[in-house]
Amino acid sequence: MEKQILKLKEQKNAIILAHYYTPAEIQAVADYVGDSFYLAKIAKNSDASIIIFCGVAFMGESAKLLNPTKKVLMPDLSADCPMARMVKKGKIEQMRAKYDDLAVVCYINSTADLKCQSDVCVTSSNAVKIVKSLPNKNIFFIPDKNLGRYVAEQVPEKNIILNDGYCPVHVQLSEKELLEKKKTYPNALVLSHPECEEKILNLSDYIGSTAEIINFAKHSTKNEFIICTEDGVRFKLEEDNPDKKFYFTNTSPCCADMKLNTLEKLKNVLENEENAIELNDEIIKKAVIPLDKMLELAK
Ligand code: 13P
Ligand code: SF4
Repeated sequence: MEKQILKLKEQKNAIILAHYYTPAEIQAVADYVGDSFYLAKIAKNSDASIIIFCGVAFMGESAKLLNPTKKVLMPDLSADCPMARMVKKGKIEQMRAKYDDLAVVCYINSTADLKCQSDVCVTSSNAVKIVKSLPNKNIFFIPDKNLGRYVAEQVPEKNIILNDGYCPVHVQLSEKELLEKKKTYPNALVLSHPECEEKILNLSDYIGSTAEIINFAKHSTKNEFIICTEDGVRFKLEEDNPDKKFYFTNTSPCCADMKLNTLEKLKNVLENEENAIELNDEIIKKAVIPLDKMLELAK
């Protein structure tokens, strides 16, 4: 199967992008594996004819928004991030009416429609830097309350208004299970994604995006880590660091949508060129504005 995928990919001048949460066998055949920010930049600058995005809907959509003339295909179009639409209808207008200088900061884990209503996008790797750089005092951070709260702590000079969205996978991480792991492995550092709840982040030694967690573990002089994010990162962590140990809480978080990406579906989509991301021109024109602003401010 892997050989067929590689052959088809060359024949069709396609590139395969995969997020760190996709299954290991997908990451193994991908041309680029990374966090949301890295993959968005790769998609924007790609001159391939076809971009196959192994991830969830907001990732494929962002690739299409940033490089609209390309064919962007996804192995499974139903792979979606439940957090992407967790903003109540009318909430953004309500906030804009309340604060004159409001900036709507939209986590990239959001629908194209929410991006159209926002001023700037962020990912977990650049949110602090971007929010700090904004001239606005009042920030409405959508949709993730956990990333929003983490940013608010790092940027106390801003009034950050939280929305009540959350990642159903990261909020499952149990404080009790983490404390048990810490007790079993007292020398291990806890590395966590900012989508985790406060009680998990308070027990963490390092907080960062998936790529930042992987980078931290690689360059750390320590040999043991407890990882508080989706278990797909295990593949890269173990590949990069065969002599280090990585532990997950007993109820290891698993994003079912990311796991909808399979080799079989990837091969099919390369063969048939089905599952294209389609967005109308009006949406593309509007939703790309906050994404482009993110790329500019994150430089
Ligand atoms: P990263 O940007 O850290 O890869 O996170 C994406 C994501 O969906 C986390 O749940
Ligand atoms: Fe969405 Fe959470 Fe899955 Fe990331 S891990 S794609 S935020 S549901």
